[in-house]
Amino acid sequence: MRKFIVGGNWKMNGSKALVNEISGALNAGDFGPVEIVVAVPAPLLPLAREKFKSTIGVSAQNCSQEKSGAFTGEVNVDILKDINVDWVILGHSERREIFKESDEVVGKKVSFAIKNGLKVIACIGEKLNEREANQTMQVVIRQLEAIRKELSEAEWANVVLAYEPVWAIGTGKVATPQQAQEVHSEIRKWLAANVSQKVADETRIQYGGSVNAKNCGELQSQPDIDGFLVGGASLKAADFVTICRCKL
Ligand code: 13P
Repeated sequence: MRKFIVGGNWKMNGSKALVNEISGALNAGDFGPVEIVVAVPAPLLPLAREKFKSTIGVSAQNCSQEKSGAFTGEVNVDILKDINVDWVILGHSERREIFKESDEVVGKKVSFAIKNGLKVIACIGEKLNEREANQTMQVVIRQLEAIRKELSEAEWANVVLAYEPVWAIGTGKVATPQQAQEVHSEIRKWLAANVSQKVADETRIQYGGSVNAKNCGELQSQPDIDGFLVGGASLKAADFVTICRCKL
């Protein structure tokens, strides 16, 4: 009932040539029931929207919570929609850490994007010291609560959550299927208790952090893992195709 969804987050990588290469590989593939979304750097979005077939979503990696105006360097929702981009990743740990986006800012961005017609991949996840201090759920719930308080129940239909433990991102240190499943299941319980059973049943929760062509099989079999958000391996056509085929 929850459609498995694989996102490729290129971060600050890629080129026109890579858009051509990866779109060629994905357009030719059969991925069964899996939904695919590719998040490229902003300048490559128009080319990506042109090259990827229409059933593959194209996503920005961030956008402003302001409508328009004097915000040099920012990208707004209206421009994304104008170029037919209908997804945005918000609250990635790199935005939170490096660019100091607070829980509150992330909540406001998610709300603004959804109220203005985009679909959102909202990222949450704890740092290593927080996991070691047994604060994983405390941190994840704090991040979730900042999003929940900005959204109506109906707006959750346009949210995909991405659980990305920061210690697993770009480190090669993937969460075990059991570790990921445990947090995903807790997130779903929290949604049931704090939003509604319907939202808990229907919201897709991706796992992100060192997902690759080898470990995706075991991770996808967990009952509360509804997709992946893939960094490094999404830049390699063959690996990303293998990950997108993990349900076949
Ligand atoms: P890696 O897959 O490179 O660990 O990155 C994960 C990530 O941050 C996806 O958003």
